[in-house]
Formats: sequence, structure tokens, C-alpha cells
Amino acid sequence: MKKIIIAIDGFSSCGKSTMAKDLAREIGYIYIDSGAMYRAVTLYCIEQGLFDEAGNIDEETLKAHMNDIHISFQLNPETQRPVTYLNGVNVEDRIRSLEVSSHVSPVAALGFVREALVKQQQEMGKEKGIVMDGRDIGTAVFPEAELKIFVTASAEIRAQRRYDELKAKGQEASFEDILRNVEERDRIDQSRAVSPLRKADDAILLDNSYLTIAEQKEWLKTQFEKAT
Ligand code: C5P
Repeated sequence: MKKIIIAIDGFSSCGKSTMAKDLAREIGYIYIDSGAMYRAVTLYCIEQGLFDEAGNIDEETLKAHMNDIHISFQLNPETQRPVTYLNGVNVEDRIRSLEVSSHVSPVAALGFVREALVKQQQEMGKEKGIVMDGRDIGTAVFPEAELKIFVTASAEIRAQRRYDELKAKGQEASFEDILRNVEERDRIDQSRAVSPLRKADDAILLDNSYLTIAEQKEWLKTQFEKAT
């Protein structure tokens, strides 16, 4: 069977990565979480002290450091889930913290950051057989992808999901803070000048506000079968 590229875009915390990961595992494709790459660059900035008190980023220093930031993924053999590495260190848990979530959108709005990460993402998809999720996969990274999905759900439902996820991991979380963060990221992601979040004209829209994970999985599998 011919291998294709599957681009899954949408708003933050709408369950894209769960759907994308499950589908990739089932059909034997590589799964890439492009958001994890923007999060890893953000963690690097936090660790290097590139944010000031007001949350402004030292763009010049980051630009000079871009070549020192190496992001890779490895499958955890036990869970079969991908783990994100930043310069050889496992940062999977740290990149999911609210601190990283609160700083990531301004980093992802920088043209030179996007240029560097998009280039790496395109390289990863060269052989096809890939499911990638993010904000600009169907519009900028793989505009020629054979299957494009755009996922959305209400901000409250997305915040509740992120809250439950953090709680389940034993991390401290406030629903109000998470909701504010989700709404703020939506705003910045949609209004940035470079590759703003938008549905590609040829993407299929999925509002999963009231769908279970099993229902979404089934729906996505059907779209994949139609596309191949
Ligand atoms: O998908 P996730 O919520 O982990 O992504 C974190 C942030 O990275 C998003 O809020 C967005 O600002 C940025 N992002 C992006 N383009 C992508 C993936 C993520 O700008 N392809």
C-alpha cells in the first residue's frame, strides 16, 4: 500500500496528539509531535534565562543559539510512546509543564524558530509514512499532504482535558489558569504573522467536543482508509 503524509492541525489541547499517536501506531507510521519541538526550544530558553521578568524573550541570543538546540524523539520501549529529547536529555515531562505552556506561543511566533523547525519536520517526512500534528502542518510544513485534518473543541472542554491530564500525572494545576492559557495560546497562534493557525482549505474539519477517544479514533481510521 502506498504511504502517505497525514497532517493533523488544530487548537491547543484538543486531543490531536492522542488521535495522531494512536493512528500512527495502528497503521505502522512514524508519529511526530511538532508542538513538542516548539516546547523544547521554549524549555531551552527558560533554562538559559532568555526570558525577562515580563516574559519578553531575548531574540538575538536565541537566534545565535539556534544551532546549539538539537531535538530528537525516541520510542519508550515499554509504553511505545515517543519521548522528546533536548540535546540528549529526556525532557518529555518538563516540556508539558504550565511554565512551558505559558511561554511557548511567543517563541513559536518567531520566524527564525519556525524556519529551523519546519526544515527539520520536512526532513522527517521525506519518506512519507508519517503522521504529524501541530498548527501549520497542512498549511506550511506539508501543503501537499494527502490527508489533512483540522481539529477543534470548545476552550472549556480543552482546558478540562488538560487539567485532568496534569492531575493524573500528580502535577499541581488550577483550572482557571489552564483555561486562560488555552485561550491566550489560541489568540497568539491565530494572530501571529508567520504561519498563523488556520484550517487549510482542503482539510477535513473535526469538532470533537462531544466525542470519546474511541469515537475519534474510529473516525480518523475511516478518513485514512478513504485516503489510501
Ligand atoms: O501542540 P502543543 O499545544 O503542544 O503546542 C505548543 C505550542 O507550540 C502551541 O501553542 C503553538 O504556539 C506552537 N506550535 C506551533 N506550530 C506547530 C505546533 C505547535 O506554532 N506546528
